[in-house]
Amino acid sequence: MSIKDAMSCFTTGVTVVTTRFNGQDWGMTCNSFNTVSLEPALVLWSVRKESQSREAFVQSGGYLVNVLEKSQKNLALQYAQGTQAERFAGQTLVRSAQDYVRLPQSLAWFECKLSQVVSAGDHDILIGEVVDFGLQPGQGLAYAQRSFGSLAALV
Ligand SMILES: Cc1cc2nc3c(=O)[nH]c(=O)nc-3n(C[C@H](O)[C@H](O)[C@H](O)COP(=O)(O)O)c2cc1C
Repeated sequence: MSIKDAMSCFTTGVTVVTTRFNGQDWGMTCNSFNTVSLEPALVLWSVRKESQSREAFVQSGGYLVNVLEKSQKNLALQYAQGTQAERFAGQTLVRSAQDYVRLPQSLAWFECKLSQVVSAGDHDILIGEVVDFGLQPGQGLAYAQRSFGSLAALV
């Protein structure tokens, strides 16, 4: 039993965050996403300092958060491993105003301008100001205790 086991008892949604840096798309699965403020609209997520994509997310000046729908478990797995090219392969890629990849079946998305980077232990917290967003009907993909599910039972 570890602290990670205890932390994994907290049920979260699942997102894929994307950015564009050095002429290339970058993306990774993330469940540390959360909302922070309404006025101004601020959200956050945390990236492991040793992550290959950390520099791209910190240097690019912004990111797009795709909130995954329950049918997108395959994308949650795809964006958590492999090369960046493999992560973006085999999908219809829609682009946001800032040229970040938007995954079309996502439940919601937030395009953000990076506003603050807070160093916190082995992660950096990336606080972003929401500049555009959208949503469509559906149910979110949930994650707890290293398993995916849905919150369909919520009324
Ligand atoms: C459900 C799930 C949630 C994750 N959440 C995060 C997260 O919030 N922050 C993070 O740095 N990594 C997170 N990861 C791990 C990254 O997706 C994974 O380490 C990825 O391979 C990092 O890619 P990179 O090293 O190429 O940047 C998560 C993985 C999964 C499966």
